[in-house]
Parts: sequence; structure tokens; C-alpha cells
Amino acid sequence: MIKNNFPIPNTFGLPVKARIFAEYSSVEELRDLLKRYQGERLLHIGQGSNLLFTEDFDGIVLHSAMRRARCVSEDNDHVWIEADNGLVLDELIEQLCDMGISGLENLSYIPGEVGASAVQNVGAYGVEVKDVIESVRAVAVADGAERVFTNAECHYGYRDSIFKNDLRGQYIITHVVYKLNKHFEPKLDYGNLRSEAGDKPTPMSVREAVIHVRKQKLPEVSELGSAGSFFKNPIVSREKYETLTRQIRDDSIPHYEQEGGIKIPAAWLIEQCGWKGKMMGGAQCYEKQPLVLVNRNNATPEDIVNLAAAICKDVKDKFGIEISPEVNYI
Ligand code: EPU
Repeated sequence: MIKNNFPIPNTFGLPVKARIFAEYSSVEELRDLLKRYQGERLLHIGQGSNLLFTEDFDGIVLHSAMRRARCVSEDNDHVWIEADNGLVLDELIEQLCDMGISGLENLSYIPGEVGASAVQNVGAYGVEVKDVIESVRAVAVADGAERVFTNAECHYGYRDSIFKNDLRGQYIITHVVYKLNKHFEPKLDYGNLRSEAGDKPTPMSVREAVIHVRKQKLPEVSELGSAGSFFKNPIVSREKYETLTRQIRDDSIPHYEQEGGIKIPAAWLIEQCGWKGKMMGGAQCYEKQPLVLVNRNNATPEDIVNLAAAICKDVKDKFGIEISPEVNYI
């Protein structure tokens, strides 16, 4: 499918268009498209759940219509599932939970597709997708060559991977292989997940608990446009954290020890600056979770960009901490 001046799917619900929009159903079709449109500005999207389009896209936007998953190997304890990039991650998770296969259940209900979630290293409730990714298969944009990246070669970090840095724009992930568990070891240490998951948790009961918790705090993108968390949680040095507690005379600043420093929830910083629930044009800092910016009332891209910039400035002025978007500006 190739269309001109086509509306680009994006969960912010912004009315943006691609000069060319093309969907492919096989790796061969993808290679043909790459050859045909070589030299064009190119963007590959999933559901557009982590993108902020600041204007129409003058180039080609690609999307995968490959949506299958298969078991590629198993032993007594594990099963290796290979999923196509265009499969909706949550649909895969639901099927796995149904079969009692675990590892991805904490990531239930995160919007997005398999390929994009492996670029972004999505995470929630104490699990990141990198924890269960064995390898990814990708196609080089330049010449269509296939390359397999092991988990280590993906250089995964917090909402980060080599595909967002050194290899940005150079590869399209076509398949992801997950190493999943036959025997369930629930991960319930985040927030109130343990109490929500029941006495004898199963992958499905944890999935349901996660969905319940998410629905309480996060907007449904089908009802209220957003890209989930707009900012990353900043990690500061211990000195910075201690200076901050002295400066604002508050030793109850929420914080989490991390490798490399102390994580302070951006949601808390933003709320302290008074932004929770505030609007700028049609964009709003979400009233239930200020880390999320929403399209409350026909927001324009500028409304969202301006709101994000104003929030960053206030957090910097009040706390001396830089928060940065996790959403990609296009
Ligand atoms: N907080 C406030 N005010 C609020 C809400 C939260 O001060 O109104 C503070 C509280 O101290 C709370 C802390 O923020 O304990 C953490 O809040 P929450 O558990 O909601 O998590 P988060 O750090 O804000 C991250 C992810 C989410 C993920 C949740 C749960 C990032 C950027 N975001 O949010 O991911 O669902 O943890 O694991 O790391 C996403 O990436 O789109 C996303 C939704």
C-alpha cells in the first residue's frame, strides 16, 4: 500500500500528513520500498505512540503490516518467541499470558508495536523489554542487508538503544526474539502491584493488575491523545540530591537509588512547579500523572512543544535539574 499526502497515525491525535506513506507485508517488500525511495527523507513508525510530529513529514513514512509471532525454540524452562515488528506488543502479551508464558506481563497495555518497543526499550512496573529480548533482526536502510543484533549489541539503557544513537535511522528492526519463561516468577516489587495481583499470581492476573493500575493513572490514547510519559526521569548525583534536600528543606523528596546516581521522579518535580493539570493552548499537563502531556483540546504541535519547554524551564529554574523528553520530536 502506497499513498500520497496520507494522515500519519500518531497517538497525540495531531493532524499531520506524510508526503508518501507506505505499508509492507514482507521483508522483500520492505527492501523494494527502500530501493525505490532511496535518497528520500525516511521515517519508520509503529503506532506513533512515542512521536511528536512538529509538522507534516516531507518524505516517506513506512509502516509494517507484518503481524505474526512464532515459537522458534524451547527447552524445559524457556521458550523463544520471534515476533514481527508490526505486531501490537499488547496483543502478543495477551496471547502469551493466555498460554501461561511469562516475562512480558508487566509491560501489558503499553501502546506500540514490537519493532518500535525494541528501539525505545519500553519499560513499566520494574521490567524493561530489554530484560527478555534475546536478539533483534534488522534490515539496513542503505542496502537492504539483514543483520542480527544480540541483546548486548543493542546497547540498551533506560528508554535507549543503539538504534536511537549511533545507528539512528540506519536500520529497521523487522523481528524481535524474546526469551520467555515456562515457570512463573512474578515481579511485583513496583508500587502496589503485589496487592493488586492476588494471592496466587499468574501471568494473566499480573497482566490484569498492571492494566488496572495503568488505567487509574494514564489516559487511554483512544480517548485522550498523548504519548505516554513525555519526559524521562532524571538521574542526579548523590551530592546534587543532598544539596537539593538542604535547599528546599525537605528530606521527603521521592528518590530511588540507581546505578550511576539517584533517580528523582520527573512527575514530582513537575507537580512541585505547579504544572499538574495546567493548560497551554490545547495541550495539558495531565491532572492524574504530570509526566504525561495530553492533547486536551485540538492542540497544535506548537502547543505541545511550548508546554514541554515551559515545564523544562521551570524545573530547571526551581531545582537546577534538566529533564529531557523521552518522546521523539519529528
Ligand atoms: N508522582 C508525583 N505526582 C504524581 C504522580 C507521580 O509526585 O502525580 C511521583 C511519585 O513520587 C511516584 C513517582 O512519581 O511514586 C513515580 O510515579 P509512577 O509510578 O507513576 O511512575 P513514573 O516514574 O512517573 C514510569 C514510566 C512509565 C511507567 C511507570 C511505571 C518513565 C519515563 N515512565 O513513570 O512509563 O508506566 O514508571 O513503571 O520512566 C511511558 O514510558 O510512556 C510510561 C508510561
